[in-house]
Amino acid sequence: MTADVRIDVHLTVEDLAEQLRSDVHTGLSQRPRRLPPKWFYDARGSELFDRITRLPEYYPTRTERRILAAGAQDVAAISDAKTLVELGSGSSEKTRLLLDAMRAHGTLARFVPLDVSEAALREASAQIGTAYPGLEVHGLVADFTRHLDRVPNGAGRLFAFLGGTIGNLEPEERARFFGELRAVLHPGERLLIGADLVKDPGTLVAAYDDAAGVTAEFNRNVLRVLNNRLGADFDPGSFDHVARWDPDNSWIEMLLRSTRAQTVTIPELEMTVEFEDGEELRTEISAKFTAERLGAELAEAGFTREHRWTDPAGAFALLLAVAD
Ligand code: AVJ
Repeated sequence: MTADVRIDVHLTVEDLAEQLRSDVHTGLSQRPRRLPPKWFYDARGSELFDRITRLPEYYPTRTERRILAAGAQDVAAISDAKTLVELGSGSSEKTRLLLDAMRAHGTLARFVPLDVSEAALREASAQIGTAYPGLEVHGLVADFTRHLDRVPNGAGRLFAFLGGTIGNLEPEERARFFGELRAVLHPGERLLIGADLVKDPGTLVAAYDDAAGVTAEFNRNVLRVLNNRLGADFDPGSFDHVARWDPDNSWIEMLLRSTRAQTVTIPELEMTVEFEDGEELRTEISAKFTAERLGAELAEAGFTREHRWTDPAGAFALLLAVAD
């Protein structure tokens, strides 16, 4: 039996190039300077992120996997869904736990992974198509902050947004995203969302500043992306990796701190950027939640929280919510 895989591209190479130019121009013209985290993930960045997920200090991935392993059957039974839509699907590695449970429950018919990375999406779609004969795989190369309306319609969909990726959005972006998501779901359809929870700052900071330095390399990799894609001349070695807990905003921020005064040129943008000695560039926020706050934000957007799963230590949560 040949795999039933179809991929729709809603995001062309040209779109992505234009967005990168605009994000870098805007972000580096601001003070403090910032870059959106989505540009970490070229091939090398995705590989480094994969290594992060296996680090002893980085607990979210393995914790979410354990919660899913224990809860996936309940998710399948409660949702009774025929289609699993996965936003920001990446490698779709943990998603198999959900697919297995939905298949065992007897309802699984279609899987719709959505990701900005065409390479990751094609690879994951092909692998899942082969591993699940009879499953219709309909991949979307798309951005979950812009293209939710491209998700195919159909009765009984479960949307999964795993890994704590929701933490990358600022509060206003998050509210907009929940609102847009609610607008594409039909009443009775569900969202399963994975979120990292507030805990002691030492544990949080260690997860973003590991002893082996993998996260530091991941952070600096965004400068290589700008060098490769925009002809910039960043010297990644002249930026220190910084991970900091911001208790007021309840998020970890990752920064790159210039170790000297320096001028960087970005020919494709006809831009030069002056960094002072010690000046910081913010490359990511990773918001941490309480299950109550996340539930309240979902309620605000028109969802009712149905179920919540956490690990025994309360490090990470999975919330299942139904569209009102
Ligand atoms: C992929 C956004 C969930 O915020 O923990 C890991 C990315 N950055 N280490 C996170 C990340 C540094 C990760 N997310």
